[in-house]
Amino acid sequence: MAMASLADRLSLPFSSHSLLLTLLLLPWPSHSLSSHPSPVSPVVSRIAFGSCANQSSPQPIWDAVLDFDPDLFVWMGDNIYGDNKRPSRFFGQERTLGPWKNIDRFFPSSEEELKRRYELVKNKPGYTKLRQRAKVIGTWDDHDYGLNDAGKEFPGKNVTQKLLMDFLDEPEDSPRRKQAGVYASYVYGPEGKQIKVIVLDTRYHRDPIFSDGTFLGDAQWEWLEKELKGPKTELTIIVSSVQVISNLSATGNPLLFTECWGNFPKERERLFKLINDSKRSGVFFISGDVHFGEIARYDCGSQYPIYDITSSGLTQSLEEDSTPPVAFLIRAIFWMVPSTMRVFSANCRHKSCIYARPNFGTIEVNWDVSPPRVKIELRDVNGSSVNEVSFLLSELQAREVAGTEERESGYQQHCTLERESSCFLRKRLTLILWVVATVLLGIIFLLLRAILSALDRLFRKNKID
Ligand SMILES: *[C@@H]1O[C@H](CO)[C@@H](O)[C@H](O)[C@H]1NC(C)=O
Ligand SMILES: *[C@@H]1O[C@H](CO)[C@@H](O)[C@H](O)[C@H]1NC(C)=O
Ligand SMILES: *[C@@H]1O[C@H](CO)[C@@H](O)[C@H](O)[C@H]1NC(C)=O
Ligand SMILES: *[C@@H]1O[C@H](CO)[C@@H](O)[C@H](O)[C@H]1NC(C)=O
Ligand SMILES: *[C@@H]1O[C@H](CO)[C@@H](O)[C@H](O)[C@H]1NC(C)=O
Repeated sequence: MAMASLADRLSLPFSSHSLLLTLLLLPWPSHSLSSHPSPVSPVVSRIAFGSCANQSSPQPIWDAVLDFDPDLFVWMGDNIYGDNKRPSRFFGQERTLGPWKNIDRFFPSSEEELKRRYELVKNKPGYTKLRQRAKVIGTWDDHDYGLNDAGKEFPGKNVTQKLLMDFLDEPEDSPRRKQAGVYASYVYGPEGKQIKVIVLDTRYHRDPIFSDGTFLGDAQWEWLEKELKGPKTELTIIVSSVQVISNLSATGNPLLFTECWGNFPKERERLFKLINDSKRSGVFFISGDVHFGEIARYDCGSQYPIYDITSSGLTQSLEEDSTPPVAFLIRAIFWMVPSTMRVFSANCRHKSCIYARPNFGTIEVNWDVSPPRVKIELRDVNGSSVNEVSFLLSELQAREVAGTEERESGYQQHCTLERESSCFLRKRLTLILWVVATVLLGIIFLLLRAILSALDRLFRKNKID
């Protein structure tokens, strides 16, 4: 999305859319195409991830990422804003809004311009340091793919694929440069402490948004099945540029819309089924795109709870990109939009457990305890935690026979899809906004009437005089 889509739907005035040393020092992954790591592969226990970075803004958050000292950093898309946006106009020659609009709001950039924008990020001092200290991998979302909300129809995709590969320092002879789309997988760590990172491409093969068509395309689905059914690893992180579990569209409609797997219910079902059928343990998702951070969990998609940790963005965020009253409204809206999948915890900075200011995500695996413990946090620009979840690796265990897991008291199962929650809950936000709008209109009407009758009296008095 989606900031744009969200802003459009909300019709709010959002202001902005608004290796050599490395080789020696760092955990070197084995690209899945050539498969498994050498036995000396160093342990990876600290991973940071982020999305949505405006190349033209200062990016102070890198200092906090560096302080965390990750072994690996994962870009989850909108690594640059490669497309351009025309102003929102209802009237005039170039109308970008309303049913009478005559021109698209977003348009792509030239290859030269895209290169320039990638260079801006590569030259940010914080990011430069990170590249020297940690391995960096990633995927794209719509804005670095080339165009807001774009899918397989985007004509410039082979050019932008090359640019992303250059940005990520993918070797010239890498098969990833020759395939259709940027999906890839990596395995880090020695036997017994292995982490697999599966990076999806949710753009190159994706059918139009409301088509209910394919999300990944046949070739990528086949590849994903092999990756999941392949050699086991202790942990498997699937990177999806857009949210997998939360479906904000279902409760925010028609005010809020996000691009997410939820918009392709059949494909989403297929994804969960594939994880379940693969009997792979330790799988969870990380995602970006939406300009806020959120932790969601689905307990009925596989044999064990599936988490989706959304971190967005490194610079872009709904609240920071808005004026204070609008930021307040956004926080209130998040509080009002129910989510059946969101994980609430006492550690959240805000009551809604949505953090809509710049943030990045961190994953820490404590391999020294048995079973190993995983702690995932969303952190603000200063590196302080704003939301977190932690679990034992043994809680993400595929079992041969379906059974009930012993859970600590208070564990709330998230099995009801947003669209299956009660009508009142789903329409609550719309209802409140409707009431507010009606009251405001009523006040305006009464004021106008009072003004008119005062004018009328004045007029008559003058006439009599
Ligand atoms: C990125 O930042 C620049 C400079 O602040 C601003 O002009 C532009 O609108 C921003 N782009 C987006 C997509 O927010
Ligand atoms: C883009 O690349 C793919 C695979 O590398 C190729 O099959 C396709 O023909 C290319 N498309 C264009 C428009 O060049
Ligand atoms: C997500 O919400 C949309 C809009 O209400 C709905 O059409 C779709 O079925 C939902 N997806 C899931 C998986 O619930
Ligand atoms: C997962 O697969 C098992 C069989 O291996 C099946 O019994 C169970 O219903 C499946 N769970 C879900 C949520 O699909
Ligand atoms: C980060 O720290 C600075 C300086 O202490 C403070 O002014 C700012 O509010 C902090 N930002 C957040 C998001 O907490």
